[in-house]
Amino acid sequence: MQLDAVERAILAGEHGETRQQMMELLVALGKVFGAERMVPIASAQVSGASYKTIGEWGLRWLRGLDARVAVPTVLNPVGMPREGWRDLGISPEFAARQNEVLEAYRKLGVRLECTCTPYYLMRVQYGQHLAWAESSAVAYANSVIGARTNREGGPSALAAAIVGRTPFYGLHDVKHRAPSLVLDVEGAGKAGPIPAVHYGALGSLAGRIAGNRIPFFRGIRPTREEMKALGAAMAATGAVALFHVEGITPDARIFPYDVMALERIPITREEVAGVLKEIPVDAVALGCPHCAPEDLQQIASLLRGKVVRKPLFVFAAAYVMERDPETVLAIRRTGAKVVADTCMVVSPLMEGYRAIMVDSGKALAYVPSMCGAAARLGTREECLREALTENQ
Ligand code: F3S
Repeated sequence: MQLDAVERAILAGEHGETRQQMMELLVALGKVFGAERMVPIASAQVSGASYKTIGEWGLRWLRGLDARVAVPTVLNPVGMPREGWRDLGISPEFAARQNEVLEAYRKLGVRLECTCTPYYLMRVQYGQHLAWAESSAVAYANSVIGARTNREGGPSALAAAIVGRTPFYGLHDVKHRAPSLVLDVEGAGKAGPIPAVHYGALGSLAGRIAGNRIPFFRGIRPTREEMKALGAAMAATGAVALFHVEGITPDARIFPYDVMALERIPITREEVAGVLKEIPVDAVALGCPHCAPEDLQQIASLLRGKVVRKPLFVFAAAYVMERDPETVLAIRRTGAKVVADTCMVVSPLMEGYRAIMVDSGKALAYVPSMCGAAARLGTREECLREALTENQ
């Protein structure tokens, strides 16, 4: 790899042992993937922040690092909200360990914003290079904004944050951003856009078909929020880090060849609907990925004047909640819990339930293994209707 003078000095240990180790990690990664150089990054988003997922080993590793991040860096959701965790039944032992993880990141200069939607917090521009780890945020940044990031692991995102660079390979390089198959969503164009949550169902299906390829969708006209749901689900059931939607996503028009020459796979409305299976549930969770401000407003408006009968959890970033405290209060008045910094998957909050209803294809994929509960997918309206129905 060609390194510039600063990068060589870091690698030689002239900027401290931690930076040296981080550079060694990035150079090793770059060599594995054939990178010829490093590229400066605008921001980093680091996963591996919940004590539930990193455990004692992860905490020990973080504590051993001695450096400050070189670019704006935020965290993925952690295992509990930073405020009010006692009221949610989080054990003091877990909270103590989680706070130690947060303290370790704080010492590294990481902003303690814990969210999978950093794009609501930081201005991200088309063509910017990033080192983000959360798979749904990576899909959004690459596909909806047109920024450039690989799907980083927690350690490589943190290494890039500390060094301020990442190896230039994969999705950083425009020539690797071309679509490799066409997914033709049949009938969607004729009957109008498919409903919002069905983008979670569509993503669930499309991720299994695409695997780690880059799909090019035809026949759909999703909004940004619908693309957020689509990308999150595909990143969970497949390893999709970038997708294109004909006529919509910014990179869809930059590839000069005819996409019709690619393998073409039809997806029918019936197949999408088949993902939505009805099972009885004893809790409902919304906000995977974390709610946008408009999501909170929609939930408040759908619940206005009502009282929830089943446990209903709504997850959002703290800064999104702080921007609209009245809406958060309106949702809480119904008996629902609006929770910051964490989510249904990375916290122990949802572990006592048998079956959880979600409006997200990503949560549908992860709830069974991470919460030990069955999962059911529905529209947001269906989820809220379920939350208003007494447990049997
Ligand atoms: Fe975010 Fe948790 Fe879903 S990290 S994308 S809310 S699984």
